[in-house]
Amino acid sequence: MRLQPPLAELISLKGRVSLITGAASGIGRATALRFAEAGSDLYLVDINEEGVRRVSEEVKEVNPEVSVRYFRVDLSSPDEIRGLWERIASKPPDVLVNNAGIYVFKDFLEVTEDFLEKVIRVNLNSAFLMSQHMIRARREKGGVIVNVGSVEAILPFAKGLVHYDISKAGVLALTRALAREYGRAGFRVNAVVPGGIRTAGVERLKREAILKFRVDVIKSGMRYFARLPMGRLGEPDEVARVILFLASDLASYVNGALIPVDGGFLSA
Ligand SMILES: NC(=O)c1ccc[n+]([C@@H]2O[C@H](COP(=O)([O-])OP(=O)(O)OC[C@H]3O[C@@H](n4cnc5c(N)ncnc54)[C@H](O)[C@@H]3O)[C@@H](O)[C@H]2O)c1
Repeated sequence: MRLQPPLAELISLKGRVSLITGAASGIGRATALRFAEAGSDLYLVDINEEGVRRVSEEVKEVNPEVSVRYFRVDLSSPDEIRGLWERIASKPPDVLVNNAGIYVFKDFLEVTEDFLEKVIRVNLNSAFLMSQHMIRARREKGGVIVNVGSVEAILPFAKGLVHYDISKAGVLALTRALAREYGRAGFRVNAVVPGGIRTAGVERLKREAILKFRVDVIKSGMRYFARLPMGRLGEPDEVARVILFLASDLASYVNGALIPVDGGFLSA
């Protein structure tokens, strides 16, 4: 007996275009590579132009058959976001992955209005505006949105990330609200909720945090590992695989889900 549709078809993104933000590094880069393997054409977006150019070359090594374009966009700027969607208006994406994010430790009492606004703009407003453009552009056809949240939005754990935690809590609320409002219009909107993934961003964060908070960081690192059922950090590819699942027809009845990819951290 052959099951219909076959598994290979369900996981394939062949013939689809996916837009991935923050694609120059970490989880975004890993997602671009897996999506290419699954046959998706790609729009790769990042503020780091050299990084995203490099990833577009790696994509070609993974699958020479997919077409890939990269765009240097500062997602904290609504004008630049608008400009991006104008450039891709003739072929808007089938899949949008809102992954770009910044996480910088800062003591709650040292957070300025400007800093707070920047974090909210990059982490939350960009996902909001990108989703708005996506739904406008694909109103007739529907589509898939995958947002990247954080365990910090559900269980704030690290010291000095209040600004980040609230931005990611907004991303999770955005996910569920859009899933409810646009399910009937043919959109599926879900989020992965990563925790403790070994990326350049996390390494940078650790270095900054050690310089700033010293003992507190070592203590909270130890508390984190003590609580972590799998006892190790995750790899970017382990998040990318779940993003691919959500983007693909394997997840055709998954909508409004917030899926932890955290080695069991939240459930411990
Ligand atoms: N790594 C983890 O442990 C972890 C845990 C929870 C959530 N996350 C989330 O996953 C996402 C990816 O994280 P990562 O660890 O891969 O980070 P990373 O720092 O390695 O990559 C983030 C990418 O976003 C890009 N970016 C930052 N600001 C931008 C802007 N204004 N415009 C356009 N691009 C911009 C960066 O240039 C970078 O390429 C983030 O949203 C992060 O908050 C990561």
